[in-house]
Amino acid sequence: MVDRKGEVGKPDVVREEKVPSDGDHRPTQLGIEFIIRFYRLLKGSTIYDQKNFMIDRLAQDCLQIIGDILKSEKQLLLKIVRDNIFFNNIRIQMKADKYAILRAFLQEMRKRWIGELGFDEKVGGDELKDFVYLLTGLDENVESNYLYLKKQLETRGFKAINVGKLEFFKDEEIYVDSEDQKRYSKEVYFKSINLVKEVMEGVKSQKMLNVRKAKRLMQNAVNSIMQDESTLLGLANIKNYDDYTFNHSVNVAIYAIALGQRAGVPKKHLSHLGMAGLFHDIGKTRIPKEILNKTGKLTAEEWSVMRTHSLLGTEIVMGMKEWGELSTRMIDGAFEHHLKYDLTGYPRLTRKKKVSLFGKMITLADFYDALVRPRVYNRFPFLSEKILGFMLERSGKDFDPALVKIFVNMLGIFPLGTLVLLNTNEMGIVVQTSEDSELIDRPRVCLVHYSDGEYRKGEIVDLREMDEGAKDFKWTIVKTLDPNEYNINVAEYLM
Ligand SMILES: [Fe+2]
Ligand SMILES: [Fe+2]
Repeated sequence: MVDRKGEVGKPDVVREEKVPSDGDHRPTQLGIEFIIRFYRLLKGSTIYDQKNFMIDRLAQDCLQIIGDILKSEKQLLLKIVRDNIFFNNIRIQMKADKYAILRAFLQEMRKRWIGELGFDEKVGGDELKDFVYLLTGLDENVESNYLYLKKQLETRGFKAINVGKLEFFKDEEIYVDSEDQKRYSKEVYFKSINLVKEVMEGVKSQKMLNVRKAKRLMQNAVNSIMQDESTLLGLANIKNYDDYTFNHSVNVAIYAIALGQRAGVPKKHLSHLGMAGLFHDIGKTRIPKEILNKTGKLTAEEWSVMRTHSLLGTEIVMGMKEWGELSTRMIDGAFEHHLKYDLTGYPRLTRKKKVSLFGKMITLADFYDALVRPRVYNRFPFLSEKILGFMLERSGKDFDPALVKIFVNMLGIFPLGTLVLLNTNEMGIVVQTSEDSELIDRPRVCLVHYSDGEYRKGEIVDLREMDEGAKDFKWTIVKTLDPNEYNINVAEYLM
């Protein structure tokens, strides 16, 4: 329960959600519905001013669910403990379809150090609206925010709303502000590239590998993705031709971790997944340079050499004692990433086997990254919508259907870095995808202005924003464009 002094303990009884066979568990469904509506209101308060018609609408939606919950559950208490949200002391399962929005809510609360939110009795619309503006107005990363909020609620005589401090665990790493987080994510990304270089070169010269360093780095990547997915996914989406193999390896690790966390892979295994992703192409260190870097099309013979990299990779991993318990995972990544879901890929198998979960996830990550980025022999990459379409088409054949769904959902229909044309005839670049699965076609977009012979960064707009009178959206995406045709360097907009 929320303690007025602000000292919060663990939830009294931690109950695991049991999902009955006939469908979803009703109380946590209500909790999830509340979070979604509350989050929409929270986001709305950053777009509109408090008197806007839209805020009324969003607040009403939220009030309705609060009422429903208080009627059937007698209380409404959300508590954040580490990476989990508890609704009336039941842990909410972050299922893939609601993952992004639940996660975004968690982050919004965490970065303001608010760990508890409760409604004891029916709350009024004005009360709720005031509260939400107070909440979004808080500075990031201030430990005593909850005290300030409590005071504000008290002076306004708002008795129905309670807040509590975020519980801090010593082993938890980061409560930094968004800018620090971004910097940290970038550091992790570039360190990982260097690490892959180091390891790949080490493999060639048969040096001992620094596995501990690699593990630590992937643990950092996992933390980073859990706190701020968009920076790392953004970096992965930047198209860059230098050092293709190294960039590719890191990107595959990032996509795999992001996919894995949505698919419910436990946190402690996510870094192993990252490792397996990072070194899935380690076999390429044994492919002759002339073939690996060939600018023209590969001959049939060259292809057959290229295809040996999965087996070579498996051999390399098996020969390295340093990986210890990680070996099996690493082998899954190296051996299975071209096998395909229906085993029609390579290496050809003489006996049927099941592709492991890690193998399936790395397959998707590898496929997406390989096509979305330009390389020596493919100067113009496919647009991601084409790739996502292709993935859906090959779902059940090349890829695991359940994972395809999660992957496509994760990247959104307009992934980070997509150049779009808006109904206002403006162009823009997607800089943040929408967490709300009902508004998946409404990302945040950085407008692109043309002046003095070049394209320049304009303001960032939120495509969820409604026009005056809230009849229609202010901007809508009409179609996607190819940034290469316009000579736009997408990286500049994402960084
Ligand atoms: Fe490969
Ligand atoms: Fe690959």
